[in-house]
Amino acid sequence: MKIPNIPKIAKKAEGRKVENYKFQHNATIPSDKDLLGKLGIKRGDKVLSIATYYGDWAKAIAKAGAIVDYSDVSKSMVSWAKRNLKGFGKYICSDYIYLPKKEQEYDWTFTFEALGVWQGLPLAYLRSLLNKKGGILVSFPRLDEHGKPVGGKEKVYPQLIKILGKIYGAKYKIKHLYFFASRHGDLVSAKHVIYAILTNSKARKLARKDIEALFLGKIQADSRKRLNKIATLLIRPEFVKEI
Ligand SMILES: C[S@@+](CC[C@H](N)C(=O)[O-])C[C@H]1O[C@@H](n2cnc3c(N)ncnc32)[C@H](O)[C@@H]1O
Repeated sequence: MKIPNIPKIAKKAEGRKVENYKFQHNATIPSDKDLLGKLGIKRGDKVLSIATYYGDWAKAIAKAGAIVDYSDVSKSMVSWAKRNLKGFGKYICSDYIYLPKKEQEYDWTFTFEALGVWQGLPLAYLRSLLNKKGGILVSFPRLDEHGKPVGGKEKVYPQLIKILGKIYGAKYKIKHLYFFASRHGDLVSAKHVIYAILTNSKARKLARKDIEALFLGKIQADSRKRLNKIATLLIRPEFVKEI
């Protein structure tokens, strides 16, 4: 039976270099008056932002009234954020596979277009089931000349949310919504996709059990089965291991 291979997944993320990215913003910079409403976040909700990058979405969420912690795996990105981005609670340098550490510390895990859909991202959203409310992923689909989405995110984000929802008995929602946002300097009304997984006490308990099994060892048969299903999302052989 195959389960996620944590050391290999963690090693891949260590090598991410933000210095190579040319556009020093998120792909879209939201300016929508109903940002929180459209995302399903309430004012005062505590949000863990993962793979936060230049932080345009996380910053707008904090400005709209949520309490947001910034996190990213890149040391240089986090030190840039500490110097240049105000309005966050903590600034955490960590691979998202280890966050959140505690149960019910946050309402939501949030990301705008995190990388790693075939590696660690399913584990970050497994951990989002530890939150009070769950996890939200947002993407801005880029379309080719035939109107088809480019890249893996639009294929894998829905799978990720559906598979986790099914394994852990958590509801999920996928919504296509327009947000006012800036894109390369122009103000546009751009279609985004919101993927939300909503946790509950049973999902939280099973997620805690499987996270402990995966990160601390001692894997019981029921955890093996669930982790084996998560491993189906990790397509490269080095990111899974046989047990
Ligand atoms: C947000 S994503 C991609 C950018 C996105 N397309 C956009 O337009 O905003 C890039 C960020 O993810 C971070 N990242 C990648 N893998 C990560 C991981 N495993 N844990 C935490 N952050 C990660 C990188 O350091 C980088 O800052």
